[in-house]
Amino acid sequence: MTEPFLIGDRMTGGYGKGADILHDCTIAVDKGKIAVIVGPNGAGKSTAMKAVFGMLNLRSGAVRIEGEDITALSPQDRVAKGMAFVPQTSNIFPSMTVEENLEMGAFLRRDDIRKTIEQVYDLFPILRDKRRQNAGELSGGQRQQVAVGRALMTQPKVLMLDEPTAGVSPIVMDELFDRIIEVARAGITILMVEQNAKQALDIADIGYVLVQGANAHTGSGEELLQDPEVRRTFLGG
Ligand SMILES: Nc1ncnc2c1ncn2[C@@H]1O[C@H](COP(=O)(O)OP(=O)(O)O)[C@@H](O)[C@H]1O
Ligand SMILES: [Mg+2]
Repeated sequence: MTEPFLIGDRMTGGYGKGADILHDCTIAVDKGKIAVIVGPNGAGKSTAMKAVFGMLNLRSGAVRIEGEDITALSPQDRVAKGMAFVPQTSNIFPSMTVEENLEMGAFLRRDDIRKTIEQVYDLFPILRDKRRQNAGELSGGQRQQVAVGRALMTQPKVLMLDEPTAGVSPIVMDELFDRIIEVARAGITILMVEQNAKQALDIADIGYVLVQGANAHTGSGEELLQDPEVRRTFLGG
């Protein structure tokens, strides 16, 4: 078995001194592929993302990127390794302009960021039009574009998204998924959590159904969509 590009391997842990939330949970994704985590509310999806990004102290298990063990690294050091994380909430600076948000995303960089800003605007043209507006004035879908764009400013190898389509219309969701596919085609590995399970599994190379902090089902997006048990218990038939 070859090592995946990114793996949270048998992660067990919780918040502070509290009870474990994750139980032997494994999430992995190959280079340039899209991994999707789905599962009921409170299943530990966001917690698994935080664990992979280094925001949780694991009691056991490991996180590796390109074969390198990064379990002990801080989130900031993981950014330097090529990871970018768009959290579920508070993922933009609402009182800063769109362009200032993008500039903030590049705070670790010393080189010229202009080209990357233009790439973000090419991906999300509406942001070019609104670059001088405060991000807080934008629609929900546009704010999510700012959040994704800000994450892309670090030129990551891995883009982690926690519910990027929360609260947006189905049309905006489809559009955002198309852009995420485009990002993956450019070679950036995607790890995302989604509430819109059917649509997200539709674009997933690999899917993980988490239940109570543990792996309940794992397979290609197609396999999970066709799995009778997954359909009955989770996708609503
Ligand atoms: N910051 C936190 N401190 C303590 N417990 C938390 C924290 N965040 C989440 N939890 C708990 O962890 C469990 C999993 O939550 P979460 O990972 O947010 O689930 P999901 O993203 O799948 O809805 C829940 O029981 C939740 O109450
Ligand atoms: Mg969550």
